[in-house]
Amino acid sequence: MRISLFSIIIFSIFACSKHSPASLNTSRFNQIDSNQIQLGRFLFYDTRLSSNNTKSCGTCHNPVFAFTDGYKRSLGIYADVLQRNTTPLFNLKEQKYLTFADSNIKTLLRQIENPLFNEHPLEMGVKGNEVEILNRIKQQALYQKLFQKADMELNWQSIKLSITRFVSTLTSYQSPYDFYLKGDLSVYNESQLKGMQLFFSDSLNCSKCHGGINFSTPMVFSDPDKIEYFFNTGLYNVGDKNEYPKYDQGLLQHTHNQLDMGKFRVPSLRNLIYTKPYYHDGSEENLKGVILNYENGGRQINNGEYKGDGRKNKYKSELIKGFKLSDYERICLIKFLESLSDSNFIQNPKYQDPFNNTN
Ligand code: HEC
Ligand code: HEC
Repeated sequence: MRISLFSIIIFSIFACSKHSPASLNTSRFNQIDSNQIQLGRFLFYDTRLSSNNTKSCGTCHNPVFAFTDGYKRSLGIYADVLQRNTTPLFNLKEQKYLTFADSNIKTLLRQIENPLFNEHPLEMGVKGNEVEILNRIKQQALYQKLFQKADMELNWQSIKLSITRFVSTLTSYQSPYDFYLKGDLSVYNESQLKGMQLFFSDSLNCSKCHGGINFSTPMVFSDPDKIEYFFNTGLYNVGDKNEYPKYDQGLLQHTHNQLDMGKFRVPSLRNLIYTKPYYHDGSEENLKGVILNYENGGRQINNGEYKGDGRKNKYKSELIKGFKLSDYERICLIKFLESLSDSNFIQNPKYQDPFNNTN
């Protein structure tokens, strides 16, 4: 016993000394990685990054709401209404396209330029104020230390990169559904199981569009090799002219192809408990409303400026054709959707605002 313990110790010392330069290097890199993420976390929550010191990324992307803000459509630094509902932020590395309807934005580094530099409307208002904002950051002893620890020069590239690194760490795979998948069958009661069956059934079609581990990867092919990612789900038919409201017609705005009218990316269905209201424009308050739209095969709007029968929008996906649910089945489906929410995620101490002393 003694001998074997002794030899293990000797072996470990030998092994360590043999590998020490490499392992030292890796641990140095791990340390730098984590320091860059930490720097990004401070910047993410710092209102100094907006021209008038009012908004940080975290103002709109608040962990309490799974990194959304509870507004229908978000507000920029001068309270202008933005084009869209704020998207939640989690599991972003798995996301093929970023934002609701821009097929050109594929990297986070590119995406975060939008809130920082957008001018119409102003989101954070950095454009034209780059030097001043950078000076604000440079003057803080806190940031001098954080940038040094992150082994980064204090410039805009490093700011964008470190925020991107922080945002990439936001991971949410601890919902009851995830525990169920790992074999803990006891997490689901009868109604949730029934809801799951309905969700994956061919009569409802939900999982054809909301596929994959994040319920955001469609399994719909326009031709055998090409997966479709953007769909018109029949939410609008303004004036019965097959249109979506002028301020946001989805993918069409980028492709200028009429067939892309009203097409939006399939959103993840994780964390829905926290991300109300729903859709690209926050136009549905609760899950029951969303499901009723699917049951009806689209949304009919009876009055107001967007009046029209979305069920008859000719650009609507063929998969949105309507079905019937009993009240009980509808409740089951909602219970299943709610079980995709992850309370550990929104409470994770690593993701909270570091300027808030309680964290
Ligand atoms: C004024 C509110 C606001 C601010 C500030 C803001 N965002 Fe956003 N963010 C939004 C909205 C709205 C969208 C959806 C845009 C769209 O779909 O066109 C979005 C989308 C995103 C996305 C795309 C997520 C996805 O799933 O496609 C990322 C990433 C993101 N924001 C990160 C950030 C970062 C990082 C910052 C700070 C530099 C930031 N945002 C600041 C409102 C905001
Ligand atoms: C044809 C593809 C398709 C099918 C089928 C489909 N969805 Fe969707 N779903 C989408 C798209 C695209 C959106 C975003 C629409 C928008 O914002 O304009 C969406 C939005 C949602 C939302 C709102 C999420 C949010 O964060 O705003 C929920 C909830 C939802 N779907 C659940 C379901 C359920 C449940 C089913 C089955 C009854 C289903 N979906 C079937 C494509 C689909």
